[in-house]
Amino acid sequence: MKYSRISGMGHHLPEQVVTNKDLEKIIDTNDEWIVERTGIHTRRFIDPEKDTLANMAAKASRKALDRAGLKTQDIDFIVFATITPDYFFPGSGVLLQRELGLESIGALDIRNACSGFIYALSVADQYIKSGMYNNILVIGGEIQSTALDLSTRGRNTAVIFGDGVGAAVLTSSDSAGIHSTHLHSDGNYAEELYVRDPGSSRPREERQPEQILDTSGYKVYMNGNMVFKHAVVRFTEVIGEALETNGKAADDIDLLIPHQANLRISQFIQKRMKLSDDQVFNNIQRVGNTTAASIPIAMSEALEEGRISEGDLICLAAFGSGFTWASALITW
Ligand code: COA
Repeated sequence: MKYSRISGMGHHLPEQVVTNKDLEKIIDTNDEWIVERTGIHTRRFIDPEKDTLANMAAKASRKALDRAGLKTQDIDFIVFATITPDYFFPGSGVLLQRELGLESIGALDIRNACSGFIYALSVADQYIKSGMYNNILVIGGEIQSTALDLSTRGRNTAVIFGDGVGAAVLTSSDSAGIHSTHLHSDGNYAEELYVRDPGSSRPREERQPEQILDTSGYKVYMNGNMVFKHAVVRFTEVIGEALETNGKAADDIDLLIPHQANLRISQFIQKRMKLSDDQVFNNIQRVGNTTAASIPIAMSEALEEGRISEGDLICLAAFGSGFTWASALITW
């Protein structure tokens, strides 16, 4: 029986640190409101002159490969989770393949928003278990800043999101690293957190750039209250599902790394699951919500900070647009 394990992690954050005070200068908002409702103090925004999703992903990937003790050429396949690809099509997986100079390996893009990294990990895990590939690069990356409505009209989303990329190398192994993944969706809530355009649901005349008068469909729409209410229920459910499947209890978790949606959501889950501060990792205070990138960035930082040791039981969990939600249970 083949299993997969994470053999290396890396992340890359763009240099520009944007504080709540910076946002106060352009949006009718304030530091106190943002910190109280979201826990966020700073986030990173790209420099459009030099940062692209593909080049940031290459930087994160090289760190992950280095830590895995592998060369770029050892990679057999790429799974890239993002909702903000460099182009509307093709996906960013092929651009990363080009950036890394990898010859003709397959590259797959996953569009499951905040749950994207766990979906990507689950797909890669199946390829490794089936024996099809030995080393897969799994990426979660986003550039949100260029799509945000940085005006008072967009303030409920503009203050939340940030940019960054996290990368994991998944490697075939004789013992289980990834024990299970659980994936869910409920499309009834698709329009509660979405960007409508340039979707194919629009009439032809509204998809022609010269005729677009109303550009609001290109900005993130979020029903924050609705997202919050569903998130706290689904996070708890899907973590419970991971534990039950593997005969574990909340006490057994060494580190829970929840998708960094909002610090209040993470704190709610921690309280409901009776987890100690040592059992939960949060970095949203510094990084903001980076959608598909949030879990791999957090994992990479947790490793750098010595919060994860060999043999630890790690639980990943996410909830977001779709709605989709997911979990993974991993022995490090
Ligand atoms: N600064 C100041 N005021 C703001 C604001 C901002 N950035 N954004 C919204 N407001 C205002 C609203 O206009 C509203 O004012 P009103 O009462 O005069 O109409 C008031 O604050 C409350 O807005 P509401 O949207 O009800 O706030 P909330 O308490 O639900 O908090 C969120 C908003 C977005 C922080 C909260 O709903 C949330 O965290 N939801 C989860 C979202 C999430 O995690 N998304 C990530 C997806 S994975």
